[in-house]
Amino acid sequence: MPAPRIVALESSCDETACAVVEGLLVRSSVVASQIEIHAQFGGVVPELASRHHLTAVVPVVREALERAGATWDGIDAIAVTEGPGLVGAVLVGVQVARGLALARGLPIVGVHHMEGHLVSPFLGDAQREPGEFAPHLALSVSGGHSELVHVHRLGEYTVLGRTRDDAAGEAFDKAAKLLGLGYPGGPVIDRLAAEGDPRAVPFPRAMLVGDNLEFSFSGLKTAVAVFVDQHGQPSSRQALADVCASFQAAVVEVLVTKLRQARKKTRASLVTIVGGVSANRGLRAALEQAASADGFSVRMPPLRYCGDNAAMIGGAAALRWSAGLVPEPAVEVYASLGIDEGRARP
Ligand code: KG4
Ligand code: ZN
Repeated sequence: MPAPRIVALESSCDETACAVVEGLLVRSSVVASQIEIHAQFGGVVPELASRHHLTAVVPVVREALERAGATWDGIDAIAVTEGPGLVGAVLVGVQVARGLALARGLPIVGVHHMEGHLVSPFLGDAQREPGEFAPHLALSVSGGHSELVHVHRLGEYTVLGRTRDDAAGEAFDKAAKLLGLGYPGGPVIDRLAAEGDPRAVPFPRAMLVGDNLEFSFSGLKTAVAVFVDQHGQPSSRQALADVCASFQAAVVEVLVTKLRQARKKTRASLVTIVGGVSANRGLRAALEQAASADGFSVRMPPLRYCGDNAAMIGGAAALRWSAGLVPEPAVEVYASLGIDEGRARP
């Protein structure tokens, strides 16, 4: 069966994205970010997100088709993120996808956002070969999720552990806010951490005792708040870099320790990291080190597919299409968080 050609849409949070894929090969991927709009409020404002998706979506779809050199005639299906996410934001993508499907007489494939992230390391494009999706072990870390997922095959997942409170990206965002670094915090802390001493501040590593695979990051956020309370805002760039490096080291140590435990438990030979936080340079380096120490392979998404994008939604839809797992008849929007045991769809 030839690889399906799919136009994919993603609008679950603050990125309006469209991509054209052929199986796992990305022909074009366009992302219109709203970060500047939300940064002034210190976080994503749902109502503003929906409104900006509305104005951005049509130009983004046009650009994706143009960059791929594609016309609607060669397209087999439309894919769209059906959730989880901000309901008003998801609805924009879903309704546009429905409209396009109706106008072009094409089938529509609803994709779970987290399944999209799971597929992101396996996408191929002009710079990179696509990979074999399953089986593998994934650490999924974004603004809303921190989960260890054992991927048996497409649509069959075991969640081995997740966060009890804040997600890893949320911890980065909250720490950055406390340090006066703005939103989103991850990229700023990542940059500053490269110049700092990770041993400068002994921030706590939560839940490392025992062999449970759950995370907790709210205590770390409190430790940053207490630090700022006691010492005030770091007064020099070096002092700020030291706090960032120490904070990042605490997050990375917990993530990689749990990932190694899960790897041993599952005996997975391939490990991935996905989601916005997988762009973190400290995490990427620590994972490479763990891989050579423990003897497993690693596949990480290139930076362009770490954050929210539509290429991963197209890739997941293509895998579903080829496996005959296309949900019928039409997508429904749902707001629940997390990838459910066994299946990616509720
Ligand atoms: O996957 P994503 O783009 O959106 C969600 O689905 O949540 O993830 C966004 C999260 C934010 O919390 C952001 O601070 C974090 O990913 N992030 C990073 C980095 N780049 C983005 N965290 C750490 N280091 C980074 N380089
Ligand atoms: Zn995401």
